[in-house]
Amino acid sequence: MSNIGSYEERRKSFDWKEAERELGYPENGNHNIAWYCVDRHCEKGRGGKTALIWEGHAGEEKRFTFDDLRLHTNAFAARFRELGVEPGERICLFMDKIPELYFSFLGGLKMGGIVQPLFSAFGEDSLITRLEDAETRAIVTTKKHVRKVRRILDRLPHLQHILVVDADGFALKDRETAFDYEKAPPVETFPAHAVTPESPSVLHYTSGTTGKPKGALHVHGSLVSQYITTKWVLDLQDDDIYWCTADPGWVTGTSYGIIGPWSNGCTQLVLDSGFGSARWYEFMQKHRATVWYSAPTAIRLLMRDGTELVQKHDLSSLRHLASVGEPLNAEAVVWSKEAFGKEFHDTYWQTETGCMVLCNYPGLPVKPGSMGKPFPGIEAGVVDPKNHEPVKQGTVGLIALRPGWPSMFRAYWNNEKTYNEKFQNGWYICGDRASIDEDGYYWFVGRDDDVINTGGHLVGPFEIESALIEHEAVAESAAVGKPDKVNMEVVKAFVALKPGFEPNDDTELSIMNFIRKKLSPLAMPQEIEFVPSLPKTRSGKILRRMLRAKEWGEEIGDTSTLEDD
Ligand code: WTA
Repeated sequence: MSNIGSYEERRKSFDWKEAERELGYPENGNHNIAWYCVDRHCEKGRGGKTALIWEGHAGEEKRFTFDDLRLHTNAFAARFRELGVEPGERICLFMDKIPELYFSFLGGLKMGGIVQPLFSAFGEDSLITRLEDAETRAIVTTKKHVRKVRRILDRLPHLQHILVVDADGFALKDRETAFDYEKAPPVETFPAHAVTPESPSVLHYTSGTTGKPKGALHVHGSLVSQYITTKWVLDLQDDDIYWCTADPGWVTGTSYGIIGPWSNGCTQLVLDSGFGSARWYEFMQKHRATVWYSAPTAIRLLMRDGTELVQKHDLSSLRHLASVGEPLNAEAVVWSKEAFGKEFHDTYWQTETGCMVLCNYPGLPVKPGSMGKPFPGIEAGVVDPKNHEPVKQGTVGLIALRPGWPSMFRAYWNNEKTYNEKFQNGWYICGDRASIDEDGYYWFVGRDDDVINTGGHLVGPFEIESALIEHEAVAESAAVGKPDKVNMEVVKAFVALKPGFEPNDDTELSIMNFIRKKLSPLAMPQEIEFVPSLPKTRSGKILRRMLRAKEWGEEIGDTSTLEDD
């Protein structure tokens, strides 16, 4: 237990300044994340250390040192600048987990851009809402995904540059330009654009119950939280081989799949391939992974494939396991101890918080099923949903945080009203229900809204419903989360059909595929229930919560109380 110290001691003496000091944060001067993650290590003579070990679907492998990272991020930064992208403009990253995703993320930050990563499985509608809202200026993508961009280009006047990173032998179209970091002339120096801790850095879109997805805007100063939480909670040390399984299209993949580990100067692994239990174990065995940050859905899938499969591999290098994104059930924690000899340490946070806020801090006894305690430096509580005053110990209320930690989001892009509504009575309200036990551990109860958490990914019902009514057969619809053994929740849609359409398998399949293509495989309903009409309030609003309660076998109670929701 070298880095991490005792939880109680840390809590007493904690000061974010300690992390700033370790990072060598200047009073005045440049606070660019990209410099701290890359160039700083090179300047300290550690440029030869391996930063990234990357493996593709077919098992092909590439390795990059911090010095390589420096050159490749310089090349992207220089290219953005050549194209005329200005600091503060949005640069979207839309590709699989290929090395270019990591280089363009840091290259975009290096030249002062606001980086907007989007999950590559997003379809046209998911893409357009987010690119329109952010008035994105440039997008970095691949041949495989550029077709989706082409189809919506007419509606995106701000999107001036489409960089295709694998354009060899590919006929480029309007606004497209090829950029191959392996062929680009080396850019030996690229001074990181000067920013302050309050300068915007990353824009992550996240789903809400109503309205379009919201862009949570982060700043360069988020580094301070991401650096220290990585160091202490993930316990990353100099010789670790770290694997974060998350895709940078989601916040875990940037806070803990780029900024956290590289600001700590660690070697990290990336596997650009879908889930497979044996594949994952082989990958960790081959690269002697030591620290592993993953998600409950993946753990449940591994659990389903059994302990025997684990034992066929040599995973003796693993020394610390952590998880995030959805409730980690007690059985999964107990199983991991049996299978790996190590418990998964649950951590809780959100796109908006930018870093872990509740965690099973190393060294603190793990209570299986609990999210642990507030990270030192985070003041948390559970408050009453009505008056936002702390509730009594053991009572369920809303998780709340005192604003002011470095990686707190600074805005919802173009949506000040919703941002302001998240702050009540001096607290930031997370929107999740939980209780605190007699030892100060937090226990998750559920979300306080209708957002569906499927396999650790948030999907907004409104986005699904808006897409559903564009299908020729759909008159009205409601999307809710339905319980699922592995994914915790999957999307279920209730659909009333237009006259002339039959509620049969073909209609169901056609609607499912329609959503998969328009939004993403995650948003696709796994089940469609055809109904003559949907339950509504007197004012005509669909009673989504009533449909959800039915799926979960919960008491609905007096429906008149749902009228105002
Ligand atoms: C949920 C992901 C239970 C929660 C980093 C939160 C969790 C939302 C946990 C944020 C956990 C995250 N236990 N639920 N340990 N961690 N959640 O913004 O509902 O994609 O508000 O950020 O996931 O999801 P987001």
